Amino acid sequence: MDTQSDNSWIGRRSLLGALPLATALGACRPDAPPAAEAHGKGVERPAQGVVESVGERQPGVDHPAQPQTHAVVSVYDLPLRDGVARVAARMGRTVLELTENPGGFLGVELGDLTVTVGLGPRLVGSAGQALSGGLELPAFARERRTARAWGGDLLVQVCASDPVVAALADTRLAASLAAEGASGRWSQAGFRPPGGGPVRNLLGFPDGIENPGTRTELDHEVWLDGPGPFGGGTIAVVRRLRIDVNGFLAQSRTRQEEAIGRRKADGAPLSGGDGRARLDLSAKTPRGRYLVPAMAHARRANPNATGSGRMLRRGYSYRNGPDDQGLLFVSFQRALRTFVATQRRLDDGDDLMRFVTATASAAFFVPPAFSAEWPLGERVLGERG
Ligand code: HEM
Repeated sequence: MDTQSDNSWIGRRSLLGALPLATALGACRPDAPPAAEAHGKGVERPAQGVVESVGERQPGVDHPAQPQTHAVVSVYDLPLRDGVARVAARMGRTVLELTENPGGFLGVELGDLTVTVGLGPRLVGSAGQALSGGLELPAFARERRTARAWGGDLLVQVCASDPVVAALADTRLAASLAAEGASGRWSQAGFRPPGGGPVRNLLGFPDGIENPGTRTELDHEVWLDGPGPFGGGTIAVVRRLRIDVNGFLAQSRTRQEEAIGRRKADGAPLSGGDGRARLDLSAKTPRGRYLVPAMAHARRANPNATGSGRMLRRGYSYRNGPDDQGLLFVSFQRALRTFVATQRRLDDGDDLMRFVTATASAAFFVPPAFSAEWPLGERVLGERG
């Protein structure tokens, strides 16, 4: 099977940490082999320090394959008076300065820290580049909008197994970016249980079962290809989704499972089989009722129902208190319409979404990996800055 192997990711820093930054990030250079080719040969080129890339791709999207247990997502606005490309390059350098010297800024082991950076619609738009399908999210149902938590110019997603490392890295990045003129919009820490494969969310259900996972699936569904300005990148959607946890859990277990379309204990589809079985949307009871109910979340979100591509969901649970907790939703896809079509379908009726309110939301283009020589967003923002 064409399964993505993550073994080579582990310990790469110690293996190649001695390489100069430019050498370690050589795969980001224009003359580097295409990412797919690099993957095919099992080659993973790490950056020195913590901003690691696979081929030309930023970390924190599909590698490490198993997301680290802690994350902080922060969204900023940027002062664009100096020109978009220059500002983005400066922000990229700020991130690198902080992360390329692991011992230096924390005095603690950074372990598997990854930093993923995305550019908002204002930046990509002002550079005159047209990303098919754009980056502007339309209005959806059950949103509690605030100007501060809607949209933004810069996404910084920090992930680490150690929550202290994630928190410190975000704190230091926030200070450094502010010194460069960035202003913070919102920031949210998230967590997920340790372990391989799908892990439980705050409702107690295994989450992340149906996700693109093989190299072929990820190349096809997540990454933009080609030599154009967006090649080697992907589109991130981040949304803070507050869940009425007590309301959902007040339902009987049967109702909860009908709302999801899967069993709580092991994630097995209601259409039958165990936790590894595929969802069979056509399966019916002898009386003609769907085994996976019409309003079950897994049915509503299924690409066959939405007519869209697939997304890579890589979210985290979050908790700011009993009345503000839920899912820090993070998805990566090669077209915004994958998310939009799916969300619209959920808006039209979904027995889980009745308990969900969006309180923060934004979409970003995640450009290829960057380095001192290959500035953040250079290909998409070009010389126009
Ligand atoms: C608080 C909000 C949400 C919770 C708790 C949640 C939870 C779940 C759970 C438990 C599953 C079934 C297991 C799995 O396949 O991972 C699932 C599937 C899925 N969810 Fe969500 N989800 C939420 C919001 C969303 C949103 C906003 C989207 C996209 C707009 C989405 C897209 C999907 C997709 C694409 C699947 C897989 C469907 C399939 O079987 O093909 N979810 N979700």
